[in-house]
Amino acid sequence: MKKLRLGVIIGGKSNEHEISLLSGYGVLSNLNPEKYSVYVIIISENGDWFLYSGDFEKIKDGRWKEDRENLKDVVMTSSGKLLLLQGRSEFIELDVVFPVLHGLNGEDGKIQGLFEIAEIPFVGSKTASSAVCMDKDFTNSILAQNNINIADWITLRRREKKTFDEMKKKIEKQLHYPVFVKPANSGSSVGTSKVKNAETLEMAIDLAFREDNKILVQKAIEGQEIECAVLGNDDPTASFPGEIEPCNEFYDYEAKYFKPSVLHLPARIGDEAAETIKSTSKKVYNILGCHGMARVDYILDQNGNAWLMELNTIPGFTEISMYPKMLEKMGIGYSELLDSLISLALETH
Ligand SMILES: Nc1ncnc2c1ncn2[C@@H]1O[C@H](COP(=O)(O)OP(=O)(O)O)[C@@H](O)[C@H]1O
Ligand SMILES: [Mg+2]
Repeated sequence: MKKLRLGVIIGGKSNEHEISLLSGYGVLSNLNPEKYSVYVIIISENGDWFLYSGDFEKIKDGRWKEDRENLKDVVMTSSGKLLLLQGRSEFIELDVVFPVLHGLNGEDGKIQGLFEIAEIPFVGSKTASSAVCMDKDFTNSILAQNNINIADWITLRRREKKTFDEMKKKIEKQLHYPVFVKPANSGSSVGTSKVKNAETLEMAIDLAFREDNKILVQKAIEGQEIECAVLGNDDPTASFPGEIEPCNEFYDYEAKYFKPSVLHLPARIGDEAAETIKSTSKKVYNILGCHGMARVDYILDQNGNAWLMELNTIPGFTEISMYPKMLEKMGIGYSELLDSLISLALETH
């Protein structure tokens, strides 16, 4: 069988660059070498594209940058061709690409738009779905209109030029403390704070506005952090939910990647809650027009209500990530999952 020429794109100009390298390592180490000729494309934090042919181990900790003899400058051109820029110019044809990028410029529809223009099949959601799922204000607005449980929230925009007192008044009129303040477009909890009283509100707003021009202030839901893996195109499957027991007060950046938060697989929830979460996950996936994969995150409160937090159209693929683990629990191993995602990409093209 002819091997598929697969471009795996990792890194990216995003505040989740490092996480993408870890996810990329996870994907690269689990791809079946019999099926794919893999081209590793690393996008630097500045947005430069490189074709990398060095050791995968060097990807994890950023040592790839020093491996100059295994790096070539590239750009993506039409019909899925990569143009090598160094020395002589040369085209490399790809059959499909897998962006293993998180957050801005990778998960938000921009690079998906480039693939669509270049007419190259790619893993995951298309431009519009990716952009809507990246923006928590857009996601919440669409899903609330479709009667999905979304915790009450307020959107603040930099261009409204409100003073802190005006923002505070607006927030306190509609919401009670504690609240979460978070950028509309970010990930990995970067720029997110839990605010228990007016004293720390301004700091939290400033922190969130550092990441984005639009931020959300949302009612804090007390409960269990639940995640559900969705895989497929038009008729997707949803995994049994998993649960995260964060080691910090909430699932912040440190609790996600640097401290031992506890994963419970399956989640410690009843069958009824699990069924609701699975069916809601498939429903929102279809409403938002997702393709390939998504991880849908919730907080399940003490009354058994699941409040949708967000959809991640390129979920984590690191060694500790929930998405591949949840599917593994359903009998879909990591390599098999990657095969399915690539088949789904070719199917939609
Ligand atoms: N309204 C909320 N109620 C309770 N916890 C929240 C709320 N919003 C955010 N969080 C906490 O912050 C984490 C990150 O928020 P989330 O909306 O998922 O953004 P990100 O894209 O950064 O993961 C969540 O996993 C949860 O621990
Ligand atoms: Mg999240």
